[in-house]
Amino acid sequence: MHDLVLAVTGASGSRYAVRLLNVLLDAGHRVHLTISPAAVQVMRCEVGIEIDLSNFQPEAFLGSDASRESTAASPKGAPQESPIDNIVYHHFQDFRAGIASGSFLTGGMVICPCSMGTLACIANGMSSNLIQRAADVHLKERRKLIVVPRETPLGSVQLDNMKRLADTGAVVLPAMPGFYHSPTSIDDLVDFVVGRICDQLGVDHQLHRRWGTPSE
Ligand SMILES: Cc1cc2nc3c(=O)[nH]c(=O)nc-3n(C[C@H](O)[C@H](O)[C@H](O)COP(=O)(O)O)c2cc1C
Repeated sequence: MHDLVLAVTGASGSRYAVRLLNVLLDAGHRVHLTISPAAVQVMRCEVGIEIDLSNFQPEAFLGSDASRESTAASPKGAPQESPIDNIVYHHFQDFRAGIASGSFLTGGMVICPCSMGTLACIANGMSSNLIQRAADVHLKERRKLIVVPRETPLGSVQLDNMKRLADTGAVVLPAMPGFYHSPTSIDDLVDFVVGRICDQLGVDHQLHRRWGTPSE
């Protein structure tokens, strides 16, 4: 089991975060979860769930993915229960959390979705909350940091910030689903992006057909 960090910020794309958390838990990982206040607003708007950052209820977060079958390395059609106990929630202002320190070992961090604001703070070394601090830590410790930005169109400041992050070793993985796997639903599009994140984390999955493999 790896300790992985999942930070959810206020860009559009809450569904990616909910799905990713379920997939990482299904794959047997412990997930350190932290959520920005802006992400709460976006989740309310996009998936209709109410998150209380001071009294976090994991069931509410995971529940919005309840209609989906379990995933990861499990064979299709063999749903598993999500091991909620493997969620370690950290308030976004709790700088005492383990993930705020380089001495706390993790297998990597994902910011999904990543707002332009959070991206800018990390790219410029200005950490004012736990999400940005944990990202700083992953960069300085040369651990995997995956940012999943969502914005369109992109201005030069945002592009500069992305380049800056890529130059420091972060993986910039925009929420840009492909269409070459013949998606037929929004779930398929979400799974494509979540699958690419899992590839970066080294998490086994069967979320989408890979190019070069036979279709069913
Ligand atoms: C419904 C909604 C959708 C948003 N979508 C985006 C988006 O796609 N990308 C983005 O960078 N900001 C988006 N924002 C704005 C961010 O939430 C805002 O810049 C916020 O300050 C980000 O804070 P955070 O990085 O701490 O989460 C959205 C806000 C709302 C309410």
